Amino acid sequence: MKTISFAMVGLSSRGTALAEAAAQPEKGWQLVAGMDVSEAARRKFAEKFPQAKLYGDLDSLLADRSIQAVFLTSPDFLHEEQACAALEAKLAVYCEKPMAITIEGCDRMLETARRTGSRLFIGHNMRYYPVICKMKEIIDSGLIGEIQCGWCRHFVAYGGDAYFRDWHSERKNTTGLLLQKGAHDIDVMHFLMGGYTRRVVGMGQLSVYNRCARRDPGEPGEADFNGMRYPPLEQSGYSPVIDVEDHNMIMMQLDNGMQASYLQCHYTPDAERNYTFIGTRGRIENIGDDGQCELHVWTRRTSRQTPDIVYHLAPAEGTHGGSDPMILQNFFDFVMNGAKTSVTPVAARNAVATGVLGHQSMRNGNLPQEIPQLDPALIAYFENGQKK
Ligand SMILES: NC(=O)c1ccc[n+]([C@@H]2O[C@H](COP(=O)([O-])OP(=O)(O)OC[C@H]3O[C@@H](n4cnc5c(N)ncnc54)[C@H](O)[C@@H]3O)[C@@H](O)[C@H]2O)c1
Repeated sequence: MKTISFAMVGLSSRGTALAEAAAQPEKGWQLVAGMDVSEAARRKFAEKFPQAKLYGDLDSLLADRSIQAVFLTSPDFLHEEQACAALEAKLAVYCEKPMAITIEGCDRMLETARRTGSRLFIGHNMRYYPVICKMKEIIDSGLIGEIQCGWCRHFVAYGGDAYFRDWHSERKNTTGLLLQKGAHDIDVMHFLMGGYTRRVVGMGQLSVYNRCARRDPGEPGEADFNGMRYPPLEQSGYSPVIDVEDHNMIMMQLDNGMQASYLQCHYTPDAERNYTFIGTRGRIENIGDDGQCELHVWTRRTSRQTPDIVYHLAPAEGTHGGSDPMILQNFFDFVMNGAKTSVTPVAARNAVATGVLGHQSMRNGNLPQEIPQLDPALIAYFENGQKK
């Protein structure tokens, strides 16, 4: 049996969840090491994964020749530096989304991966959600004709818990939440519509969390999920510095002529990603995105309450709606056997580019922004499975 030894970098919430799903020695996937600058995070990780050697700095981890692949589950602003260092060290890299917080950062990662020949994979697990895979299958079957437009409404009920209490609340760490959170949805829309955004226009504002009670600047920030915490204006403990928007809207024109819009709100009481795509012969919409979901399809002129076809999706095993086991299988197959991947680093870069320029538009008079194009030879390298 082929085996691969991997390490985690960033050992808190995503690092631990992904390590739990990825450590499968019976499949040949062996967790051997971890790295975090926080001693408390290393200690907690050691309780769960006593087999892992633990490091407090990246250079020491990269010097450990027993490691063949590394998962970057550190904060977004570290992805570029850490990915480039790991690629230079000839390790295969699984980098969490968003790929980086700038377009230049993504492009540097693409160039480094091509020059070194080290494998690069970005953790866009939304592409592997059963409801998204089924939507892709239905759209590709032609049931709703040629898609012309797509919309996504993203209700982030847990936004105040997850993004306004720690590093996520500052532009310097994320660029903004349109990018940090929306990278998933922008990528899904690109995937389902079969193109990439060429031009983006944005509007956004911070109007709720800036009015909530903050924690003391001396106290460390920590995401803290609590479903009872509502309404937001009556809550406390938010980051001393909040300069990211809590409501984001963008409109996109794609390179294949389609149009799309994305709306993201962090102070709604309910959580769901609701996508709809409208074609020349019908419309499709998801009801629920995790667990028990439905897909509704309309192919005749009728009421919204009476779709022509309803698909019922059973809950899948595994974290993030069953997507984590699927994306990990794809990553290890890619690294160990050269398998094709559903998501490419070019797709991840184009999601970041749309998010960065959407933010730029909303912060600078809502002017349209053109996405800078990549060198066709670089695109070809990644579309061809990173084979020289
Ligand atoms: N794909 C998904 O569904 C998904 C879900 C959650 C998070 N994420 C991504 O995972 C990443 C981590 O998110 P999180 O929620 O776990 O964040 P977190 O704040 O809970 O954990 C980050 C960890 O990184 C550590 N860290 C800080 N500086 C470091 C450094 N220089 N080197 C190594 N470690 C360092 C911190 O000490 C902390 O333990 C983010 O990029 C986020 O977007 C993806």
